[in-house]
Amino acid sequence: MNTGSLLAADLVIAVLAAAGWLGAGTASAARRRPLALGLAAVALLATFARAITITALARAGWWFVAEKALIAAPLSLAGTLVAGTRLLRIPGDIRSTAVPLLFAGYAGLGALLVTLLHGYPASAGVGLLAVAGILAATVASWRVLGTRPSPMVSRAVAVVAVASLVTGTGLAAPGSAPVMPHDHEYRDARTVGEPTRRFTLTAGTATVRVSGRDVAAWAFNEQVPGPELTATVGDVLEVTLRNRNIARGVTLHWHGYDVPNSQDGVPGVTQAAVLPGQEFVYRFRADQAGTYWYHTHAVSDVGVQKGLYGVLVVRPVPVTGVDVTVPVHTLAGQTLPTPRVEPVEVGEPVRLRLINTDSTTHRYALAGTAFRVVAIDGYDLQGPTPVVDTAVLIPAGGRYDLVFTAPATPVALFVDGRAVYSTGPVSAATDRWPVLDPLGYGVGAPVPWSRFDRDFTLVLDRGLDLRGLLPRYGHTVNGATDPDIPPQVVRLGDIVRFTIVNRSMVVHPWHLHGHHVLVLSRNRTSVTGSPLWLDSFDVRPGDVWEVAFRADNPGMWANHCHNLAHVDAGMTLHLMYS
Ligand code: C2O
Ligand code: CU
Repeated sequence: MNTGSLLAADLVIAVLAAAGWLGAGTASAARRRPLALGLAAVALLATFARAITITALARAGWWFVAEKALIAAPLSLAGTLVAGTRLLRIPGDIRSTAVPLLFAGYAGLGALLVTLLHGYPASAGVGLLAVAGILAATVASWRVLGTRPSPMVSRAVAVVAVASLVTGTGLAAPGSAPVMPHDHEYRDARTVGEPTRRFTLTAGTATVRVSGRDVAAWAFNEQVPGPELTATVGDVLEVTLRNRNIARGVTLHWHGYDVPNSQDGVPGVTQAAVLPGQEFVYRFRADQAGTYWYHTHAVSDVGVQKGLYGVLVVRPVPVTGVDVTVPVHTLAGQTLPTPRVEPVEVGEPVRLRLINTDSTTHRYALAGTAFRVVAIDGYDLQGPTPVVDTAVLIPAGGRYDLVFTAPATPVALFVDGRAVYSTGPVSAATDRWPVLDPLGYGVGAPVPWSRFDRDFTLVLDRGLDLRGLLPRYGHTVNGATDPDIPPQVVRLGDIVRFTIVNRSMVVHPWHLHGHHVLVLSRNRTSVTGSPLWLDSFDVRPGDVWEVAFRADNPGMWANHCHNLAHVDAGMTLHLMYS
């Protein structure tokens, strides 16, 4: 069982244990003896099973079990002891076991809430609040059932409950937010020279036609995707962004393009959002070849989804052969691009630049030919070998370049089972195809660094976020949501290692701005294939990724999940140069 399934199994068992104890308590209060004993047996079994899941998770890493081992296990143990010792005395009146059984249920429930609402890291304050809640519920049950224990016991319980509540509240109260320099500009000393490629992108609301339907969109130059920006290595790009009427503002972020910080397009960090009637000019030198894309970074969840994105391709030399970009996007429930058929000459080299501009992973399958994956996230792979009848999974924001030589028979590219590009009619069932694992593809090379100057760990989870007016169930990093997540501070020239751990039930496509990271390992297995320099990678439930990079691009950089709804729910932080 992988760690993701273990996390899910552990959750199910914890629910079963808590529900079992609570049910047993309720049944005994109603004097339904067999039911009470049956449910107590279920709860007991589930509690023992949890010992197994927690141990297995601990072996995958302490991050997965911290609060389970430190808070849930002692609470469950206390509950089981209290209920168990009472049950062992097999009372004549089953009703007298009700409160001990309910206590075990409250303990299980309290521990479950600690995991679901707080998660990682384990916090003494939150643990004490759980204790206070469990004891308060127990006292209430005594009252309701009219089975008060001796005054000494009930006084002691009340004292512990109040003390836990007071201390817990003190410890768990959110501290002050880390100081974040906002609207702060890093002046880039680099002069980029005279522009050789000029573009103007005007953002505005627009009605676009998708598969015969009119869709209300937000668009650059009234088209979705926006115009394809192309350049040759060495060009200096100058892109003028204008905002016609997007009230919440727009910016341009060059996803995966490691531009100087001032050109990175993150509102509140590298520039102010461009409001209606305003403009902003971006200028940078195109010195990395490859497949990239651009998108607004202002209210990015809504903005990108509604259509404020486009392709950026930088080619090493003028194109030879067929070179097609396939930016996949879901607009108002329809998949873009709409299918196109373009015959090619037999023997022609074809390059397909696959881009995922959505917030979730897509599955791409190229049928009718062997192909090689020659680049991921704009960086060439070493020694890519031909594969056939194999799918690739591209994370949100990610890009794969596939190449093949046009065979005599047609070829088709399927995205999640639907053909979006083909050279003629192809029917293929691609959904059973194996998926290429990029960590074992191509020819390996040693990691260029043997020591790391900085080591950071990001534990991704969910948790209650109480900072706003309305509490919300946020997506957290190390137990906090934006803007309370402290930035990671590095110095120019540092070799930085990040360990990214996902203890939640959903995929988090991780994306660091301004740098490509070299993948070191995933789930303790080192990369065996080509060095992988990525800017977007899927950290699946239970995954532990180790990545590293050289801090060579000074500034303040966003570092976030590229499921943009998760960013909205708090999952974004910053990398900062001191
Ligand atoms: Cu493609 Cu910060 O984003
Ligand atoms: Cu996420």
